[in-house]
Amino acid sequence: MQKGTRLAIIGGSAVEQLRGFATAQTVRHTTPWGEPSAPVHAGAFFGVPALYLARHGEPHAIAPHRINYRANLRALADLGATHVVALNTVGGIAPAATPGSLWLPHDAIDYTWCREGSFHDGVLLALDHVEFAEPFDAAMRALLGDAAAAARVSLHPQAVYGCTQGPRLETAAEIARLARDGCDLVGMTALPEAALARELGLPYAMLAMVVNRAAGLSPEPITLAEIRREAAACMAQVDATLECLAALLASG
Ligand code: HPA
Repeated sequence: MQKGTRLAIIGGSAVEQLRGFATAQTVRHTTPWGEPSAPVHAGAFFGVPALYLARHGEPHAIAPHRINYRANLRALADLGATHVVALNTVGGIAPAATPGSLWLPHDAIDYTWCREGSFHDGVLLALDHVEFAEPFDAAMRALLGDAAAAARVSLHPQAVYGCTQGPRLETAAEIARLARDGCDLVGMTALPEAALARELGLPYAMLAMVVNRAAGLSPEPITLAEIRREAAACMAQVDATLECLAALLASG
């Protein structure tokens, strides 16, 4: 393992417990941008030094547009994160994005508004414009791809992720527009999270779990019960992939 490696995992709606994560300490860490969503769990993940943060808080209560993304990413960076994996539940837009499938997005479109999306907004830090043509880190994506292959988990190697404001789900017309824009998946939290990771120089990639067909594409209305059921079903594949990721980091 390279000296100083510390894997940070940001858990989304689906993640109540991460198999293999041993918490040594829960750290309440305040940043100049405020408090993260929850105390950060610091410990080990299959032997690799690791951090875990529940994006929506513990208990799960913070709506996507109210998450303090800046505090979350700053806290992970302050606590030594070197690699960030985000776990996200998403709706499927591409025909192959059926419930239960797992995706590794390579690009994203931001449809959110009024989120605090930069450290470098000229308030606490000087204005800056980070390079973001490729929003998910290529090396992290390659590692996750290798981990999924080692775990024999089927992982779609690329997708365009559309980030909507939430917390309501989309209209059928909104999803039709996202499809025309080229989005394969829809979720509510990858932005500004990925952009803030980039501003901090943290390699960040996402494992996206499709938990429903997006609005207007499913014959049935989308229910929270269905989303929860599908998310729980996806977690076995996510756990297996992350266990192999830890092994790769340990041997790297
Ligand atoms: N839309 C947006 N976010 C989501 C969805 C969806 O259909 N499913 C899970 N997260």
